[in-house]
Amino acid sequence: MASEEFSWDKAMEAVRREAAGFDLSGEAGAEAYRLKFLSKKGEVTALFEAFRALSGPEKKAVGQALNALRQEVETRWKEASAGRSTGPGPGGDPSSQGPSEGPDLATLPPPVWGRGSRHPLALTRHLMLDFFGKLGFRWSDGPELVDDWHNFEALHFGADHPARDMQDTFFVSLDPAYLLRTHTSSVQVKEMMKGQLPLRTVSPGRVYRNETVSARSHMQFHQVEGLYIDQDVSFADLKKVLYDFATFLFGPSVQIRFRPSYFPFTEPSAEMDVTCFLCSGTGCGVCKHSGWVEILGCGMVDPQVLENCGIDPDVYSGYAFGIGIERLTMLRHRIPDIRLFYENDLRFVRQFGHAG
Ligand code: DAH
Repeated sequence: MASEEFSWDKAMEAVRREAAGFDLSGEAGAEAYRLKFLSKKGEVTALFEAFRALSGPEKKAVGQALNALRQEVETRWKEASAGRSTGPGPGGDPSSQGPSEGPDLATLPPPVWGRGSRHPLALTRHLMLDFFGKLGFRWSDGPELVDDWHNFEALHFGADHPARDMQDTFFVSLDPAYLLRTHTSSVQVKEMMKGQLPLRTVSPGRVYRNETVSARSHMQFHQVEGLYIDQDVSFADLKKVLYDFATFLFGPSVQIRFRPSYFPFTEPSAEMDVTCFLCSGTGCGVCKHSGWVEILGCGMVDPQVLENCGIDPDVYSGYAFGIGIERLTMLRHRIPDIRLFYENDLRFVRQFGHAG
């Protein structure tokens, strides 16, 4: 029986098909592929050896086809190698190198850069600063690591105030006179002590509390502190600014209410609620069926605090407010869990609009 005549086309097609169907998954798969097709004893290399015996026009045609085949087979291997973090080195020769010697930079496809998006907390902070900026509030900043004076003492926290307790405050073990600020009110102190009046400022920043992390609270979060000191500043001024702020954020139909509250550094003190914008005040899970949600604390700066910071309370008065950025963002976007802000899951972050 006459043996079937050798066909270059068939031989190359067989290798091509086998290579295309080969499972390259994992480092072992890629290495098996390299050995089978591309190594010195591999099938593609064997075809090249047979090809050496050719001559004339056949040599040219087969040579071209063979080169194309080798390229195809190599590309699959390189792609699989690049998919893992390791692969052949630059200019890597798969006939001699293993796939774990660094990526082939020459053939590595370029990274695809997606369009970035702002973090939802940054978006809310931006909105807030924009609003207060238009009213003449200047942005100010302060350190996250502060002394007891800036965080507590100047703000009229008594020596035995529970907020100083180890359970609430992260103290620095090397020097317990220093702590991670528990609120941005510490920036108020810094700004007032500069003695440049009148003073109208908003201070965004990160704060820390020794709290158990849960869906509703975290050991780190962000606040925006507001402060206005001038002659004849009244509670009515404070209410007007905060009313405008709430309308700006939640629309013209929002209603606000002030509830008397207590903060050591303001007198009188209040918390501000807005009508729940999810249920429009009829009652839902977010407002705990009260129709209202609290969004900030505020008050008139206590004369003792002014004095502590070198400001004459007989001449000047002022108001202050502190707003939690996470809280506001969760309410505005119906985000159910505060931990989502810090997980850096792009699927979450991308839902809140692209950087402009
Ligand atoms: N510092 C307060 C807190 O972290 C928030 C606050 C309340 C700030 C009243 C103020 C204010 O400036 O007047 O809970």
